[in-house]
Amino acid sequence: MAVIPFYGSDDPDLFAIERGAMDREGRVIAALDENLPTTGTALDVGAGDGFTAERLTTRTRNVVALEPAAGMIRRDRRLAWVQGEAECLPFADASFGAAYATWAYFFSRNWDPSPGLRELHRVVRRGGPLLIVDNLGSDEFSALSLDDMSADTEFWVRNGFACLAIDTHFDFENMTEARALLELFFGETGGERAALRLSFRVGLFVGRSSGCR
Ligand SMILES: C[S@@+](CC[C@H](N)C(=O)[O-])C[C@H]1O[C@@H](n2cnc3c(N)ncnc32)[C@H](O)[C@@H]1O
Repeated sequence: MAVIPFYGSDDPDLFAIERGAMDREGRVIAALDENLPTTGTALDVGAGDGFTAERLTTRTRNVVALEPAAGMIRRDRRLAWVQGEAECLPFADASFGAAYATWAYFFSRNWDPSPGLRELHRVVRRGGPLLIVDNLGSDEFSALSLDDMSADTEFWVRNGFACLAIDTHFDFENMTEARALLELFFGETGGERAALRLSFRVGLFVGRSSGCR
């Protein structure tokens, strides 16, 4: 799997609506913050426009934001940007204390993300946390899809990850924004069944680097 096409470069305004509505409560950011080391450097794989990296960078923790799509990279966000792909990380072995990915590359239903996982074990120092965020399903948001949008929890458990469930929501500013985004995701049905608030169950898969190349 190479770079997965993503609409955000073509429609940054809609992506801003998505990012604003999705987990407005900040529960995913809080869970990542809790599971990342407070010092050192963490890698964000498939960082998008840097929404998450910006919130997790602190005075003592740095985040390197890796993103393949030039159009997603927001240079106005003062982050350490690197253009690259999950399966071929442009970093030396053991360069980071931790790594995470939020809804990027590691969707494990349609293909095998093992090459990207091997790269995480290589670039993160032994014992450092590897954190993968994806949909868990069984919520109002996923119910709009005909397809199974949930992460392959068995894949992560088989690979030594624990699954923490985070119950959050999509909270839209208004129905125009809700319809626009849900129509993009789910077609006409998404627009028709749009609501200002939709429950959204997220999985935080927590593993540790083996430090293996
Ligand atoms: C749904 S967006 C999520 C962006 C960001 N992580 C967030 O939570 O806002 C998916 C991102 O993964 C990136 N991506 C696609 N293929 C990738 C790959 N092979 N390696 C790393 N990132 C990839 C896309 O360019 C896009 O920015």
